[in-house]
Amino acid sequence: MRKALEGVRVLDMTHVQSGPSATQILAWLGADVVKLEAITGDITRKQLRDLPDVDSLYFTMLNSNKRSITLNMKSDKGKQLFTELVKKFDILAENFGPGAVDRMGFSWEKLQEINPKLIYASIKGFGDGPYKFYKAYEVVAQAMGGSMSTTGFEDGPPLATGAQIGDSGTGMHAVAGILAALYQREHTGEGQRVTVAMQHAVLNLCRVKLRDQQRLAHGPLNEYPNKEFGDEVPRSANASGGGQPGWAIKCAPGGPNDYIYVIVQPVGWAPITQLIGRPELANDPDWATPEVRLSKLDKMFQLIEDWSADHDKWEVLAKLNEHNIPCGPILSTKEIIEDESLADNEIVVKVDHPERGEFTTVGMPIKLSASPAEVKRSPLLGEHNQEIYGSELGLSESDMAELKASGVI
Ligand code: COA
Repeated sequence: MRKALEGVRVLDMTHVQSGPSATQILAWLGADVVKLEAITGDITRKQLRDLPDVDSLYFTMLNSNKRSITLNMKSDKGKQLFTELVKKFDILAENFGPGAVDRMGFSWEKLQEINPKLIYASIKGFGDGPYKFYKAYEVVAQAMGGSMSTTGFEDGPPLATGAQIGDSGTGMHAVAGILAALYQREHTGEGQRVTVAMQHAVLNLCRVKLRDQQRLAHGPLNEYPNKEFGDEVPRSANASGGGQPGWAIKCAPGGPNDYIYVIVQPVGWAPITQLIGRPELANDPDWATPEVRLSKLDKMFQLIEDWSADHDKWEVLAKLNEHNIPCGPILSTKEIIEDESLADNEIVVKVDHPERGEFTTVGMPIKLSASPAEVKRSPLLGEHNQEIYGSELGLSESDMAELKASGVI
């Protein structure tokens, strides 16, 4: 079956997580993604290794379905080969520190001259302004995009979230920009520059917190568990962040992930009172409506927890869902990696690798009926030098040997 992006070629200079997460999606959509690495390779090949001398899970889980070539962009010959490559690709993607590609000798103006149809996508920590030249990593973006100040408990320090909203979150924004630019090129015939700043992507994901910042001007945020409010949105622990109250409540037997997140919609209250053995509260004027419950959400969730603490989270999940009550058990990473339904959905998949053997990775979260993704292993460093430099650019074996000996590839 022809894939959605079949025929689209991506010259992928991305490294670490944010950029690779974007180009991996493009590869799953069927693009030919050729990862161009320094001759030492993407730094993550060697970071957090679980097996000696084998590409790390960090690398293998973010670079599947790609090909790999090596190229020393700081050598004259490397720049020359890069110029030839840029002519043959639709998309160039990178997430180096600010200015790195310009310092390699390739400004956007120069790249446009080489290939006017090129879509050039960059991820940086920040947009124009005082931070433009600063480097950034995941939690830096969480700190400056509104996530850390609003995550955690009121009396504790700001917290980082486990979801990689700064890196992979930005990567997904970059995918949207690249696909839109490809579509626009169909009409204009011209490429364009796509830039996404990690701070901006995190802020986009923290949109509701800026909603609340403005609501604060008109009084306290009553759905928050906090009792007092200043002039900035406080950390609201496990409050739902939406219009319906929610909280993580304890279940049996009381382990660190024996919790279930429960949302109490107006229609859910009566069945919940039945389940928890307090049917009289369904019509009690002190409890019957969302408005009267709002001032005592902590007590409401305590009542539910008095019941849930005697049942395991799976039992609670089943019982609440019998009444259409939105809820979610807190799943540990172990439970997730062993979950049959996630495997059946091909979102937790096994991939073979020539050096590490079989390993588990996260598959394609976006399902296209006419372009199913097949997860294939990540490439070894420079595995496709012959295919690209030999077959495609026409270099001879002796040329290749010379380039290798002189540290160009
Ligand atoms: N050949 C030769 N040199 C290469 C090369 C190649 N193929 N690929 C990269 N390099 C060089 C670059 O030219 C640059 O050198 P320079 O600074 O002398 O110009 C250097 O390697 C890479 O620099 P940088 O990207 O700044 O790496 P770093 O390890 O110091 O910083 C980050 C890492 C992630 C902080 C930085 O890349 C960054 O801020 N990226 C943008 C934001 C981002 O994506 N962050 C999240 C990453 S998950």
